[in-house]
Amino acid sequence: MSSSDTLTPAAGTGSEYDSFADIYAVWSDTARSTRANLAFYVDAYAAADGPVVELGVGDGRVAVEAAVQGCHVIGVDASPAMLALCRQRAQRAGVTDQITLVEADFRDFELEEPAGLIALPYHSIGHLLTLDDKRQAMRHIFAHVRPGGRFVFDDFLMTPALMAHMRQVQLRAAYRSTAGVDMLLWVTSLVDEPSQSMTVVTWEDELDAVGHLDRRRYRRLSLSWLEPPQARRLLQDTGFAIEACFGDFHSTPFAETTATEQVWVARRPA
Ligand SMILES: C[S@@+](CC[C@H](N)C(=O)[O-])C[C@H]1O[C@@H](n2cnc3c(N)ncnc32)[C@H](O)[C@@H]1O
Repeated sequence: MSSSDTLTPAAGTGSEYDSFADIYAVWSDTARSTRANLAFYVDAYAAADGPVVELGVGDGRVAVEAAVQGCHVIGVDASPAMLALCRQRAQRAGVTDQITLVEADFRDFELEEPAGLIALPYHSIGHLLTLDDKRQAMRHIFAHVRPGGRFVFDDFLMTPALMAHMRQVQLRAAYRSTAGVDMLLWVTSLVDEPSQSMTVVTWEDELDAVGHLDRRRYRRLSLSWLEPPQARRLLQDTGFAIEACFGDFHSTPFAETTATEQVWVARRPA
């Protein structure tokens, strides 16, 4: 991956999510890996020794569930719209006092004390589009985990089959909006293998009472992926010791032939 390519000026900063926030719930509810990654991360937060930080906390899908189960979570996100959703979710669940929200980038957040666990769930490292951006984030994360503390993240495991699937036009969801309007959410991705990056394009169709298209709205997200050896090297170069790499969210050891994800558990040496 080139160290200087970026797809749009907003890419890599989280600000694309300001316009993505109002479809995030439908998006994440209908995603392949969200059910399994929720349980995996909630368990990791509950087992942490010391403050738990979720980078890219989003609408609080994971953090609020962990808070309901008794954790205190510091959620960092660059998108004010996503942080507002997280705040609302925490209010609805009655756990606002267990969630601290910080508006900041993965590469420059500050904490009051070093974390016992920093997590970066749901392929969110992919929003940092270049290896340099990812390296900068890992160094920053390393500096904010206490000695002996952990950094856990997952990334796409990009295979020819997944690329082909992502390039298809898919009807992601058919649902009724809060205003009672019939909606269709579509998605496809422009995948660029040489640069290990993609633009996810979604469009939301609003239908009238007889099924005619009333309005269409497009949104884009810029993403990238690491190959597993790149992820391993980045972690090691940063100083992390790798405790585990899983091939799914059920803690199955990573094997190229069976893995569907890459889930990394790293520790800052004591
Ligand atoms: C895929 S969502 C994940 C949300 C949540 N962790 C989950 O699992 O549902 C990615 C989140 O990361 C945030 N984000 C993306 N790039 C960021 C950056 N460079 N710094 C901080 N937040 C960022 C976005 O605003 C978005 O809320």
